[in-house]
Amino acid sequence: MCGIVGYFGIKEAQTILIDGLRKLEYRGYDSAGVAIIDNGVLNVTKCKGRLANLEAELLETPLKGTVGIGHTRWATHGKPSDENSHPHTNEKGTISVVHNGIIENYIHLREWLMAKGYKFVSETDTEVVPHLIDFYYKGNIVEAVKKATAKMEGSYAIAVLCSDEPDKLIAVRKDSPLIVGLGENEFYVASDIPAVLNHTREVYLLEDNEFVVISNDGIKLEDIEGDIINKEVFHVTWDAAAAEKGGYEHFMIKEIHEQPKAIRDTMTSRIVLGQPITLDDINITKEQIKKLDKIYIVACGTAYHAGAVGKYVIEKLARIPVELDIASEFKYRDPIIDKNTLMIVISQSGETADTMSALRLAKEKGARVIAVTNVVGSAASREADDVLYTWAGPEIAVASTKAYATQLIAMYIIALFFAQNKETLSMDKIEEIKAAMLELPEKAEEMLKDKETIQKFTAKTYMHKDMFFIGRGLDYAVALEGSLKLKEVSYIHSDAYAAGELKHGAIALMEEGTIVIALATQEELFGKMVSNMRELSTRGAKVYAFAPKGHTEIEKSVHAVTYVPKVLDILAPVISVIPLQLLAYYMAIQKGCDVDKPRNLAKSVTVE
Ligand code: M6R
Repeated sequence: MCGIVGYFGIKEAQTILIDGLRKLEYRGYDSAGVAIIDNGVLNVTKCKGRLANLEAELLETPLKGTVGIGHTRWATHGKPSDENSHPHTNEKGTISVVHNGIIENYIHLREWLMAKGYKFVSETDTEVVPHLIDFYYKGNIVEAVKKATAKMEGSYAIAVLCSDEPDKLIAVRKDSPLIVGLGENEFYVASDIPAVLNHTREVYLLEDNEFVVISNDGIKLEDIEGDIINKEVFHVTWDAAAAEKGGYEHFMIKEIHEQPKAIRDTMTSRIVLGQPITLDDINITKEQIKKLDKIYIVACGTAYHAGAVGKYVIEKLARIPVELDIASEFKYRDPIIDKNTLMIVISQSGETADTMSALRLAKEKGARVIAVTNVVGSAASREADDVLYTWAGPEIAVASTKAYATQLIAMYIIALFFAQNKETLSMDKIEEIKAAMLELPEKAEEMLKDKETIQKFTAKTYMHKDMFFIGRGLDYAVALEGSLKLKEVSYIHSDAYAAGELKHGAIALMEEGTIVIALATQEELFGKMVSNMRELSTRGAKVYAFAPKGHTEIEKSVHAVTYVPKVLDILAPVISVIPLQLLAYYMAIQKGCDVDKPRNLAKSVTVE
């Protein structure tokens, strides 16, 4: 996690760095800091807490200079504190480093450096980096950074300044994202594109072990041997405004409302009536699809919940067995993988550490990997064999909403693509599902109009400490997501259960007034769901049901019903998740929580 930025140019660096950090705060917000070189002197300001704290300090004592680096932290090694904030420096204060990632051998390096007389002032893994660079510094900062990185194990994106060579900014990455923004006579480095979009749309997407050397002579990309790397400039087509709030109070509510568009964009040119599904960046052949004996879907958090829907629809439509795995567990269970195995990783960011480890393990063992990701040029998109981009646009709120909706669409597209190639469905059936998919944006708009019901519900229930989500089949997968959303933004404890499983234990938790959110969108399972709801109402629970329009008979069995637009059963998750996202959002608002930046969380989890 963590966000890093760097600026080298002709303008005052402080404002540009702060602006960049603001765009990266979704990556962590435990502390923030900047280091700027002014007349050959390296000045550092850093402090615990949100970026606003740093801004307040800089307002009182601004830092001058046109070359600088900055950092926003999600704490891993060492609690959030001023000392543990980045940038970290060497003892003389001449070398300054910002870092995203984890230096896995930092204990060894720390002891080694301490034995040589180096003194440490923080508990972080990062602090070994400036000391290591200092150790190797013999008048050439680029060489010293290269020697230091050769000793470092783990993941990192770092940016380095040295006041003895004030006209240089060095950056390098390994297993953590880093991009370079190209301006006119000015350059930017950052963990992610939104940080530079106010200044430029031309960027380099760096690969591992590519060193960026920015100086008065311009920019050079080189490898550890000093050989020049020629790289294509990537032109960012999406608008900076797409990463702004656009009149909404929070990113989360803005992104919830962007779902109809995100769903439509993700289907564009892929789901076209009367045309077979062709997928640009997926090169798996018909023969390879026919030979697949198993698919693993591997992901974390919300992406994992999208995978739960993916498992169901791929098995149902394409008749290929699918195993669903939590990425952080996957490699530790010695999974059975061979060349007839396909892995689908789902990751909004395309850089989640656990998901990337699973992807690499699958590739090592000869499996083919499809990455479903929202970030062009992300690690997942580069390392997988095939990519299916979810065109959700930048998702800034820590709680994933529109990315989830588009991941569901990606699952339907893959399932239909496999069904088409394996001929497990007739063309008529495929066309029927495609036609229903094309109606989803409109149905999502319709669902979004009903937010007042949800607001009223949250006003009555936000003081509850626990809530339960239940469902059967695909509704259970959505219940998992609804429960995660609620707890992550409103801090209300919640659990999701397969409705039929309640009687095997969890029903003991039901008492007078217990709040249960019950999803009943699946026609085939409707009757059984109604029985489950009745069992809970009988035991005093207040059951709030979500059911397809027209199913008014449910009203007798529950406390209240919200009707959702009717769609094909397999597509229902795309619509039924919307009221649950709204519910989580309005609960958090009622409770006064920081919706876009929930405590202890970060958008991209780049540590295992
Ligand atoms: O970037 P990824 O999709 O790989 O992220 C996976 C999870 O960390 C993410 O979905 C997380 O669970 C969200 N905060 C949930 O809203």
